[in-house]
Amino acid sequence: MPKPPVDPNKVVVFSGAGISAESGIDTYRDQDGAWNKVNPELVASKRAWEKHPGNVLSFFNERQKAVIAAQPNAAHYAVQKLEEKFEVVVITQNVDDLHERAGSSDILHLHGSLSQARGDSPEAVPFERGIAPIELGDRDDDGYQLRPHIVLFGEDMLHAEEARQHFLTAGKILVVGTSLSVYSAAGLLKKGRFEADKVIVSFDVQKVPFGYHLVRGKATEMVPVVVDDWLARADA
Ligand code: OAD
Repeated sequence: MPKPPVDPNKVVVFSGAGISAESGIDTYRDQDGAWNKVNPELVASKRAWEKHPGNVLSFFNERQKAVIAAQPNAAHYAVQKLEEKFEVVVITQNVDDLHERAGSSDILHLHGSLSQARGDSPEAVPFERGIAPIELGDRDDDGYQLRPHIVLFGEDMLHAEEARQHFLTAGKILVVGTSLSVYSAAGLLKKGRFEADKVIVSFDVQKVPFGYHLVRGKATEMVPVVVDDWLARADA
C-alpha cells in the first residue's frame, strides 16, 4: 500500500516521563525513578491487578497526588506554542495531564490517564474521575471495582493505529524525555518518514533510532530552543 503524503505543516510531539520530571514527577527508569523504588510487576501489571488490586490502587493514587501538586513547565508550554504555526498532535506515554494544563489541544494518551477511571470490565467506558483516590470497594454502576484508566504491563497500548497514522504523515517529529524502552510506543518512531525533521530531546535514550537527531539536555531548556527554531523557519 502506498504511504500517505507527508504534511510539512504537521508536527507530532512524542513525550515521555522526562518532560514532566522538572515539574516534580518522578520518571520510571532514571536513578530516582519509580521502577528503581518499586517493582512494576507488583504494582503496575495486569497480574498485580488480578492478585493484589490494593497495591496497584495505592501506587497510582500516590502518582496522582504528585500530579495534582505539579504544574506544567517550560517544555509543556513550548509544545503548546507550536500551535501558533503548525497543526500539532501530542502523542504521550505519560499518564499525567500536564500537556492539557499547558493548553495543548490534540493529545493522545497511549498509556491512559490518571484523571480517568473505569470499571474493571472489558465494556467499561472511562470517565473523568476528579481528584479523589480510588479505593478497594469503589464500584461503577454495574458493580465492577473501579480502576485507574491506565495501561498496565501485559495490556495493550491505546490509540495504536491513530498514532501510527500521525507519525506517517508528520513533517516534523519532536520526541521528548523518553528512554524509548517500552517497545509498542517506542516502535512508533520507525514510522517517521525519511523527509521529516526528527529530533529527540533527552538526557539519554536506549538507542537513537535511524534518522533522528539527539539533542542531549533538559527538556525545559532544549524544547523551547527546538520550538523557536521551527517557528522561525516556518516564518522564513
Ligand atoms: P523513562 O523513565 O523510561 O525515561 C525517561 C527519560 O527521560 C530518560 O531517557 C531520561 O534520560 C529522560 N529525562 C529525565 N529527566 C529529563 C529532563 N529533565 N529533560 C529531558 N530528559 C529527561 O520514562 P518513559 O520513557 O516515559 O508506562 O517510560 C515509558 C513507559 O514506561 C511509561 O509510560 C510507563 C513506564 O512503565 C506505563 O506505566 C504503562
